[in-house]
Amino acid sequence: MATQAPAHSVPAGTPLTIDAAHYLGVSPIRHVKPEWRIIVAERAFRPNPENPQADWLPTVVVPALKLIVEDRGPVKSFASIGAGAGVDILTGIEILGATVVGATDVFPDITEAAEWNIRQNLSNEHPVDVHVNHGDLLTPLQGRGLSFDVIYENLPNIPIDNANALEEKRKSSNFVPPRTEKIPQFAHDHLLALHYVALKQSLEFLSADGFVISTLGGRVPLEYLSRLAVESGLTPDFLSYSWKLQALGEEVLPSYAELETRGLGPFYYYPVEALEKTFNGISTRDSGVRAIEIEKELLPYRITATQAWQAYQAGQRIGHTVAVLKSARR
Ligand SMILES: C[S@@+](CC[C@H](N)C(=O)[O-])C[C@H]1O[C@@H](n2cnc3c(N)ncnc32)[C@H](O)[C@@H]1O
Repeated sequence: MATQAPAHSVPAGTPLTIDAAHYLGVSPIRHVKPEWRIIVAERAFRPNPENPQADWLPTVVVPALKLIVEDRGPVKSFASIGAGAGVDILTGIEILGATVVGATDVFPDITEAAEWNIRQNLSNEHPVDVHVNHGDLLTPLQGRGLSFDVIYENLPNIPIDNANALEEKRKSSNFVPPRTEKIPQFAHDHLLALHYVALKQSLEFLSADGFVISTLGGRVPLEYLSRLAVESGLTPDFLSYSWKLQALGEEVLPSYAELETRGLGPFYYYPVEALEKTFNGISTRDSGVRAIEIEKELLPYRITATQAWQAYQAGQRIGHTVAVLKSARR
C-alpha cells in the first residue's frame, strides 16, 4: 500500500498552473478551485493547458462527462484508473459534481502527486471524500468498501507481451505489468488487453447502475470495442465517436506498422480530409448514437497503419477515430 505524503508537504515534480475554465472550456467553475496548482511527477502524463485543443481531457473526456450529466444528473462517485496527475479527477468533481473519488496509477510518486493535486484544488464549498493509491488498475482501491457510479479509464494500448521490454525505459504512460489474466485473443491482437482487464475488474467496483467509460484512440473496428464490454460481462454503448490527427506520426505510425508485420491488428487510419468530411456537423451526442453508421461511411477511406505510414511520409495528413465506450452493468 502507498505511504502517502502528508497533505502539507509538496511532492516532487514540476509545478503547473491551470486555469480550469480555460482548460476545460467550462464556465463558471463551481465545484473545485478555479485555478489549479498542479505538480506533475516526473513519470506522469503532463496535461496540456497551453493548448487544450490538443489535450484528450478537454476534447474527449469533458464532452462525454457532460452527456452523462445531461442524462442522469449529478454523479456521486467517480474513479479514474490511471489518473496520472489527477486532473481527470478534478474534472470529474467539477463536471459530474462527484463527492467521492477514487484514483489509481502505477507508481507511488505519481499517486502521491495526484493526491496532493486533488486535495490542493478542492473547494471548501464542495467537500470530497478522496481515495488514492498506487498499483495495478483498480486493485489499489480494494478492501475499502468503495463503489463508483462512473469509472473512467484512458489506459495505454500496448502489446502485452512487450511489458518486460518496456520496463527498461519505463515511462508510466507506456508501462504495463506482466499480466497473468486470461485475455481473449481479439483483445490481445488489437492491443486492448489492458482495457479488457480494467473492465473485468470494474465489475467489483460498479454501483448498481454504474458504468465504465473507456476512451479509446480506436485504431480498431468498433465491433472489437463492443466485444470488450460483452466479454467482460457488461453492456456496451458508444457515448461519442470523433477523430484526432495522429500526433507524432513519425514515431507512432512505424510502431503500429511494425506490429502489423508481427500479425497484430490491422490498425486503421484515415486521410484527414475524409475524417473532416464525414464528421462535419455531427454533435457529440449524435456521434455516439450513429457511431457504427459513421464507421461504415468511413470504410472506403480506411487504410492500414503500414499504408498510413507510407502516406504520411509522402506528406499526407493522417488521423484515427476516437471512441468513448460506455460499459454498463447488465
Ligand atoms: C494516458 S495516461 C492518462 C492520464 C489521465 N487519466 C488522463 O486521462 O489525463 C495513462 C495512465 O495510465 C497509467 N497506467 C498504465 N498502466 C496502468 C496500470 N496497469 N494500472 C494503473 N495505471 C496504469 C499510466 O501511468 C498513465 O498515468
